[in-house]
Amino acid sequence: MNTIFRAVTILAMAHIMILDAAIAQETVESGHIAVETPATLSPDEANQIYDELRKRMSTGYAIAGLPIIKDYQFWKRYNSSPYLSATHGQRFVNNFANTKASTYGKLKSGEVYPEGTVFAKDTVTVTSENKIFPGAIFIMEKLAKDANPETADWRYVTVLPDGTLFGDTTGAEPELAQYCHACHQAKAKEDYVFYVPEEFQIKN
Ligand code: HEC
Repeated sequence: MNTIFRAVTILAMAHIMILDAAIAQETVESGHIAVETPATLSPDEANQIYDELRKRMSTGYAIAGLPIIKDYQFWKRYNSSPYLSATHGQRFVNNFANTKASTYGKLKSGEVYPEGTVFAKDTVTVTSENKIFPGAIFIMEKLAKDANPETADWRYVTVLPDGTLFGDTTGAEPELAQYCHACHQAKAKEDYVFYVPEEFQIKN
């Protein structure tokens, strides 16, 4: 493993631990004990849990007052059911994208997404003891050309379930969100965007 990659991994781990601490705090406040081992869920179970929480989640994120994700739950969801994402804190995640991202999963090498493209990944924590609570939402927004060359004009933002802005590459603490781009760098040829894991892609 080269040093830069190792540094990035350590940073990513630290960040995810901070997020867990924030969420653990929230659960302790509501009388729960945070457990960090995720549950194993069938696609149906994952969908059902998400359906029960989604309204509450969007209300929480809305407190951040970010216009770019105002209607995200009405966008196209590209995954068939919430799936466990090791790279986003072992949470069950969804991948929503607005209409500008119509080439999501089909982008040709060297092409880029248009300004105004937004990806929103909302998350749910489900522990092996079946404790369930909303997680952060991870956002990528394509800014105007040359607006932020260090991150290839992508803005990365995290909003906690209570609406707290946690990291924003264009905000007050950009360093909290820099590691996002460092990992997304692996997909530089596809404009820094991954895609839904094969198993959870929606087959037309
Ligand atoms: C260690 C690697 C890694 C880190 C760190 C990381 N991501 Fe990702 N991201 C991925 C992978 C892999 C996917 C696609 C698979 C998945 O959903 O888990 C993805 C998917 C996404 C997507 C959906 C669009 C796409 O690329 O398919 C968004 C939005 C996103 N990440 C935002 C963020 C934000 C914001 C951060 C920082 C808070 C972040 N990511 C940190 C690896 C990472």
